Amino acid sequence: MKVYLDNAATTPLDERVLAKMKPYFSLEYANASAIHFMGQKNNLVLASARLRVAKVLHAEPGGIVFTSGASEANNFILRGVMAANRDKGNHLIVSAIEHPCVYQTAKNLKAEGYEVDFAPIKSGGLVDLEALAKMIKPTTVLVSIMAVNNEIGVIQDLKKIAALIHKKGAYFHSDIVQAIPWLKIDLDKMGIDLASLSAHKFYGPKGVGLAYGRKGIKIKALIAGGEQENGLRAGTYNLPGIVGLTEALELAYKEREKNIKKIKQLRDYLAAKIKKDIPSIKINGSLKARTPNNLNVMFHGIEGEAILMDLSLKGICVSTGSACSAHNLKTSYVLQALGLSLNDLNSNIRFSLGKYNTKAEIDYTVKCLKETVKRLRSFSPIK
Ligand SMILES: Cc1ncc(COP(=O)(O)O)c(C=O)c1O
Repeated sequence: MKVYLDNAATTPLDERVLAKMKPYFSLEYANASAIHFMGQKNNLVLASARLRVAKVLHAEPGGIVFTSGASEANNFILRGVMAANRDKGNHLIVSAIEHPCVYQTAKNLKAEGYEVDFAPIKSGGLVDLEALAKMIKPTTVLVSIMAVNNEIGVIQDLKKIAALIHKKGAYFHSDIVQAIPWLKIDLDKMGIDLASLSAHKFYGPKGVGLAYGRKGIKIKALIAGGEQENGLRAGTYNLPGIVGLTEALELAYKEREKNIKKIKQLRDYLAAKIKKDIPSIKINGSLKARTPNNLNVMFHGIEGEAILMDLSLKGICVSTGSACSAHNLKTSYVLQALGLSLNDLNSNIRFSLGKYNTKAEIDYTVKCLKETVKRLRSFSPIK
C-alpha cells in the first residue's frame, strides 16, 4: 500500500487543474506580453487570472505579482520592502518559527547590515504578542509573521497581530502558504499588508506562486529585466502555471467545507489511534489553534529520521519537518522555539493529510507505526 501523508510539503496536481493548464503549454503558447493577437489573447487570460485570484483573497488585483513560488515571493517582499523604505528605518522583525525562506532571508539581511529581531513564541506555538509589542519601534519597517506554521500547523491570531503592528506604524507581512484553504482569507479585513502563497500546496502546479502588496507600499524588484508585473518581477509570464494557480485556488475554496470535514475527521482519528496504541508520545503545538491537516508527534526515545525511513520502506510518506530541511539533519528551530527538551528535539514526525487520503490508509499507517516504534525503542539507549 502507498500512503502519502506529506501534503504540507506538496500536494498532487488536481486532474481538473491540469486540464485547464494544458492548452497553455501547447495551443496557446504565445508570450502574454506580445502585442500580436495571440499575445493579446493570452494577456486577457492573465488579466482575468489576476482578477479571479484577487476575488478569492479579497485583495486589490493590482497588488498581485505572480512569482515562481513562495520562496521567491518571501525573498522579494522582505528584501524589496526593506530596501525601498530606508527613509522610514532599517528594522525588520520576523517570528522565530518562520519558514526557512523568511528566516534565512532575515538572517541574510542582518548580515548585510539591517537591524533584525526574531519574535519569540509561547509553548503552544503562538507568537508572544507582549514581547512582539515591545520589539516594534519607530524605525521598524516590516513585521513578518506566518499565518500557519508548516511544521506544527499552528494558526496565529492574524487580526490581533495586524492591529498591534499597525498601531505602532509598521507594515504586516504574512506568509499564508499553509493557510490555504483552512483559513478564509480576506487580506483587506485581516489587515494583512503583504502576503505570499504557493500553488503546489493546494493541488496546483509546482513553480508558481504570488506576492501581494497593498497599494502605496514601496517595494523594490528582486528580479530586474523586463517590464512584466509593472516592472516588479521580470521574466516571461508562466501562463500555464498562473492558470493552474487560479483554478486550484478557486477549487480549494469552493470545496473547502467538504475537504475540511473529511481531513479533520481523518486527522483526529489518526491522533486518537496514535495516543491509544503508542505509549510515550506527545503532540507538538496547540491542537486547538491548528489546521485540520496537520499532526506533529514526538515519539520519545527514538530518532524521527529512523521512523521516517522505516515507514518509507513500508510505503508510507511522512516527514520530520520542513521539506526544505529534509536533507540536513539539523534540529528543527521551530520545535526548539516550542521548548521541547534536548532529548526529544529529534524524535518528531509530521503527518500532513490531504483530500485523497482514506481511513484504510490511516489504519495501515498506525499499524506500521506501532511496529516501527516498538522495534526502534527496543534498542534505543534513551528510556
Ligand atoms: C510556510 C511556507 N512558506 C514558504 C514555502 C516555500 O514555498 P515554495 O515551495 O513555493 O517556494 C513553503 C513550502 O514548503 C511553506 O510551507
